[in-house]
Amino acid sequence: MSLPIVDLIAGARPNFMKLAPVERALRGYADLAPRVVHTGQHYDPGMNDVFFEQLRIPAPEVHLEVGSGSHGAQTARILERYEEHLLASRPAATVVFGDVNSTVACALAAVKLGIPVAHVEAGLRSFDRTMPEEINRLLTDAISDLLLVSEPSGVENLQREGIPEGKIELVGNVMIDTLNAELDAAKALRMPERFGLKDGAYGLVTLHRPSNVDAPATLRRLLDLLGELSRELPLVLPLHPRTRTAAQRAGLDGRLAGGNGLKVVEPLPYRENLGLMAAAKVVLTDSGGMQEETAVLRVPCLTLRENTERPVTLTMGTSRLVGNSSEKIRQGFDDVLAGRWPKGRPIPLWDGHAGERIAEGIVRWL
Ligand code: UD1
Repeated sequence: MSLPIVDLIAGARPNFMKLAPVERALRGYADLAPRVVHTGQHYDPGMNDVFFEQLRIPAPEVHLEVGSGSHGAQTARILERYEEHLLASRPAATVVFGDVNSTVACALAAVKLGIPVAHVEAGLRSFDRTMPEEINRLLTDAISDLLLVSEPSGVENLQREGIPEGKIELVGNVMIDTLNAELDAAKALRMPERFGLKDGAYGLVTLHRPSNVDAPATLRRLLDLLGELSRELPLVLPLHPRTRTAAQRAGLDGRLAGGNGLKVVEPLPYRENLGLMAAAKVVLTDSGGMQEETAVLRVPCLTLRENTERPVTLTMGTSRLVGNSSEKIRQGFDDVLAGRWPKGRPIPLWDGHAGERIAEGIVRWL
């Protein structure tokens, strides 16, 4: 008899570092078979293949090849194609990660066919429904059977929403498993040197949220500000394809040529990015994952958002919300350079063993 299959859904870049430790831990159980399903939401080799290689994720057994599109079109395509796949080859459970369109679409396809769904990184809430990810989080949690939570605020949010206690499990942050596993290799790459920089004497910037990059005026202002800050501290900006497209559409290509101390580069593989982050003086980002990673690395982080679904990065980590206001960003930047910044504390269950707890939770539940 063949083993019960557990589908693990990979769609977009931030899913890969969460999936890798869970896949590895599940492989340790002889009586079930993890199966990696890639939706194809992210498809550029630099956003995708290189993460599978570095994080030693087996090549997907199933590829849905949905590609880009509007939210409706992309989500619908994933829903349709994953359902077809489920009808042809039914798993015992589906595990979804994070808050991207692939997360909600695959959860919905599975649950409608009576296949139980586990959500890794459940319960996070920004309370900002203009963010596509917030809608994805709310919907995914409402239909999932097992809610695996990374920080205490997630448990409180789910309780407030009336989710039965028995479905909720605080397991910690699985991204930190990947960070711990890769940190030595990342440091060995000597990333700062490659860019002609010294440890602790540069900043790392990432930008891709619609709220920062979609409006040309906002993007122009942010790029100009980065140009200005880079006169005081060199800045490296690995550019998300969405941001590159937005900048080109807005006629801002010139600003991407760099100048001063601003170096604009292609999106970086996991280890390269981690290596740069670990030795940075400061990180400026709108990425949820990097807020968490800087908290563990104890690197100051200016979060370029008005809110966060990861409040523990503010209360125990090294992040401060600065939105996209030039004044607040400038103030935060000056504070970091002057050493006026929280040092951060260890966060419970962000210990490198969340993948094992998640696998254990899934096996017990099955
Ligand atoms: C998605 C996630 C976001 C996550 C981010 C990390 C949703 C709603 N958003 O946003 O939460 O933080 O991934 O990267 O799921 N593109 C390429 N090549 C690719 C992928 C995308 O060129 O491999 C371009 C296309 O122009 C595409 C645009 O980026 O239209 C946006 O891609 P999409 O997957 O829709 O959302 P992200 O902005 O990447």
